Amino acid sequence: DTIPVLTIDGPSGAGKGTTARAVAARLGWNFLDSGAIYRALAVAAMDRRVSWEDEAALEALAESMDLVFEAGPAPRILLWNNDIGRRILTEECGNLASKMAAFPAVRRALLDKQRSFRRLPGLVADGRDMGTVVFPDAPYKIFLTASAEVRALRRYNQLKEKGIDVSLAHLTEEIEERDRRDRERQTAPLRAAEDAVVIDSSDLTVDEVIEACLSVVTSH
Ligand code: C5P
Repeated sequence: DTIPVLTIDGPSGAGKGTTARAVAARLGWNFLDSGAIYRALAVAAMDRRVSWEDEAALEALAESMDLVFEAGPAPRILLWNNDIGRRILTEECGNLASKMAAFPAVRRALLDKQRSFRRLPGLVADGRDMGTVVFPDAPYKIFLTASAEVRALRRYNQLKEKGIDVSLAHLTEEIEERDRRDRERQTAPLRAAEDAVVIDSSDLTVDEVIEACLSVVTSH
């Protein structure tokens, strides 16, 4: 595939979402928030009462999901025509998504959906396995990390800004548990691709992280 892809993988709260969106806008490329696909599956499972332990039922649900990402100034995520943008923000949803994401059949069922975002003039893809599994041939790969404290605090502020009330201590625990699960799973565990540039965002401003990512593409 000759369509360029920049993959940005890393643990939750490292700043991937904000960074990937801004970098995509600067480059004029498409954007894939792969975590939102796993979160949408969690919402679908809750609504249709599918157990997070039922791999076959989740696989079928993943294959049947009608999920649309509307771009533009007020982006929306529509699941069977319902706007789920707000429901997927909570840590409960992220945690459920991470449990379902450990199943190989579920991950396989969502591969084509993710790869369909690779369209001209290019793609910035945010997730856990973008550089290792979904787009292994991507010419540009970044692994974005930050210390556990910084990541929890960022998530906390992000949720507070959106009017979602959580305790920092509880959120820290939940994020650590989710990251451990994502790192230790058998299929597509969270790890840096061998050819990824590692960026630690703990002591960088948002703009500095964006510039660092852009330079991976432009200095190539
Ligand atoms: O990135 P986000 O926090 O929205 O992702 C939610 C969960 O979905 C992650 O904790 C992870 O378990 C799963 N995920 C994944 N692979 C991806 C993106 C997300 O397994 N590429």
